[in-house]
Amino acid sequence: MRYNLKGEFNVGFGDYDNPYFPLEEMENFICCSEDLTFSCEDYSKIIEQVGAGDVVFCGPPYEPLPDKEGFTQYSNGTTFKMADQARLVKYALEAHQRGATIIITNSGAESIKELYRANGFDVRDVSVKRSMSSKTGKIPKARDIIAVKKSLILF
Ligand SMILES: C[S@@+](CC[C@H](N)C(=O)[O-])C[C@H]1O[C@@H](n2cnc3c(N)ncnc32)[C@H](O)[C@@H]1O
Repeated sequence: MRYNLKGEFNVGFGDYDNPYFPLEEMENFICCSEDLTFSCEDYSKIIEQVGAGDVVFCGPPYEPLPDKEGFTQYSNGTTFKMADQARLVKYALEAHQRGATIIITNSGAESIKELYRANGFDVRDVSVKRSMSSKTGKIPKARDIIAVKKSLILF
């Protein structure tokens, strides 16, 4: 979800001559979404509900790489700062203590790698294509990370 300064929804659609609209996939999703609960809350409110045996996947705003333009402003002028990244880790660690497995993606910024390593996460590099890029030509591959902290409890 992303909003502009006027508070209007503004997630980009990309810049395609012939955009693919995934109607079938969306209809399939509606069928299996009946058993799911959707919540729109700050991540702290969701992670607090997590307990033993749960698996949490978090895709927070990516910390900008040094000298690169990043995007962390998803709503009404609020940016997602390093302090928010650290607060996410705090809630993730508490959920892990309760027996949850945590999986978090982010950019490959050194500050992020250090944050997760220092908190005992297994941090792996992942090479990804940025498919939402509106620039034509070759889409550059980015180096992201995936940080995992497995549940302490064996099931
Ligand atoms: C990099 S996007 C990832 C979105 C999704 N995981 C995906 O892969 O398409 C970061 C997301 O974090 C959301 N976000 C920003 N601040 C948040 C907060 N405090 N609590 C929960 N989500 C937040 C944004 O709205 C945005 O959708």
